[in-house]
Amino acid sequence: MSHTPDAAVADRLVEKARTARRNAYCPYSRFAVGAALLAESGRIYTGANCENAAFGAGICAERAALSAAVTAGERRFLLLAVAAGDKPVTPCGICRQMLAEFGDLTVICAAAEGDQRLVTPLSSLLPHAFTAFSPER
Ligand code: THU
Repeated sequence: MSHTPDAAVADRLVEKARTARRNAYCPYSRFAVGAALLAESGRIYTGANCENAAFGAGICAERAALSAAVTAGERRFLLLAVAAGDKPVTPCGICRQMLAEFGDLTVICAAAEGDQRLVTPLSSLLPHAFTAFSPER
């Protein structure tokens, strides 16, 4: 279930995404992205995009953060912050689908700097996500 974030929590998460963004490895696109994912446990997991000379092998910041969280045993999430670019960017389609595996959450999209935000439920970014199976999480 998606929820409305407290402003201070949202700001803290965006700050973490911006910090992660500094470690983005993006020599090909030069487009650095950072993500921070708040789990129900209260822990925050971060990710940055990591590109590769074989372009398709790269990974987005959001999936990097999700993989770190899942590896730590997390399965339930409240909030995701994404930080990149001159204007707030939304997660790509593959990241939306990966996140939807674990249910709905609130996505806070921010630019690399500044106060502009787009706050939306994941389910609005990806209505009718593919959920053909009922996995045990
Ligand atoms: N990228 C992300 O990290 N997240 C997104 O949601 C969209 C795109 C990365 C992939 C690639 O390294 C760079 O941004 C340019 O597409």
